[in-house]
Amino acid sequence: MLDGGGKQGMRTQVAIVGAGPAGLMLGRLLEQAGIDAVIVERKSADYVLGRIRAGVLEWGSVDLLERAGVGRRMRAEGLVHHGTALSFDGDRLHIDFTGLVGRQVMVYGQTEVTRDLMAIRQGLTIYEAEEVELHDLDGQPAVTYRKDGVAHRIDCDFIAGCDGFHGVCRASVPQQALTTFERVYPFGWLGVLVDEKPVDDELIYAHHPRGFALCSQRSPTRSRYYVQVDAGERVEDWPDDRFWDELRRRLDPATAEALQTGASIEKSIAPLRSFVAEPLRFGRLFLAGDAAHIVPPTGAKGLNLALGDVAMLAPALVEALIERSSAGIDTYSARALQRIWKAERFSWWMTGLLHVFPDAGAFGRRIQRAEFDYLARSRAAQQSLAENYVGLP
Ligand code: APR
Ligand code: PHB
Repeated sequence: MLDGGGKQGMRTQVAIVGAGPAGLMLGRLLEQAGIDAVIVERKSADYVLGRIRAGVLEWGSVDLLERAGVGRRMRAEGLVHHGTALSFDGDRLHIDFTGLVGRQVMVYGQTEVTRDLMAIRQGLTIYEAEEVELHDLDGQPAVTYRKDGVAHRIDCDFIAGCDGFHGVCRASVPQQALTTFERVYPFGWLGVLVDEKPVDDELIYAHHPRGFALCSQRSPTRSRYYVQVDAGERVEDWPDDRFWDELRRRLDPATAEALQTGASIEKSIAPLRSFVAEPLRFGRLFLAGDAAHIVPPTGAKGLNLALGDVAMLAPALVEALIERSSAGIDTYSARALQRIWKAERFSWWMTGLLHVFPDAGAFGRRIQRAEFDYLARSRAAQQSLAENYVGLP
């Protein structure tokens, strides 16, 4: 079908921009409710699956995956973690999620969540869409793009901006309609993926005078490790041996000894940032996931927040499209932001406790140590950490 502008045209109820976990989960939840949605993604499916991202699911996210009908492989292959370890200058502290708050987390990679959501999707996903643009957000919205040199147009009732931090959706909102809040940290995480047995049954978050380190995992045979590096460091300057040496130095001696190293299968540096854009709605456009907010990875909240957003947005859109009630979409932004800011606070706090800040000085380091000692001796403090880590209701 050609529209007046000579573009290939189609119509859907919800045009979703971005096929990351937020876009794919939203598509799935709408599909389950009988709502038609088309996803437009800039990259190829293989590229999306090649990105290595976080791997810890709050139990609310686990339940959402189950409800969405994509829980089977997670149930079989995911690892239930009942706690986590913190280490401060070599002193270990165990945080017992189950004992403290009666809940757990599931270690299951974002790549796997994405793969499962891609596999179950019935609706149309347009990969490798170029020059994606949004139109008439206040009136009759549309998304246009080019694919294989041909211009396309999708008319829709609503647009969901699930296109990540660098996407086009937030950038399409007039600047004066958005307020943004940001903190950029003067360091990043250098991450390595390796096919070796994880060094511990649980994750280890380690503070060390040389910088933060994290021992994480994807499966019983695949591990993910990180070290804090200065902003501006380049991956090319970190051959595997240098990475392993640096990681060992930041771990307690027993853990360093037990570490099984090997050839990295992925290595990348991620900058750390806290960011929130408010509100999450502009006319008929709704932002969700990284398009609206970024957390530093220290609390493992990014993926969970993205899933939490769309778990709220999907029923609101269904209500608007089927029951013709705007109650859900009118309150989506305020409701989602409540949850987002709490996760922002927790991620900022955990980042502050565990990293080395170039300008903290001796006072700042003593405060970090006191915070750790308080945590080590206070059940209330541990409960607060655990409650946030496993996910607030
Ligand atoms: N047009 C279409 N698609 C786009 C555009 C664009 N202009 N810009 C970006 N995209 C796509 C990206 O290629 C990506 O596949 O949008 C998708 C956004 O996916 P994510 O970045 O994974 O964001 P989200 O789905 O919100 O998931 C958040 O990802 O970054 C992690 O820690 C974060 O775990 C969290 C999760
Ligand atoms: C990861 O496994 O990539 C991971 C785990 C926990 C975090 C951040 C990243 O807090």
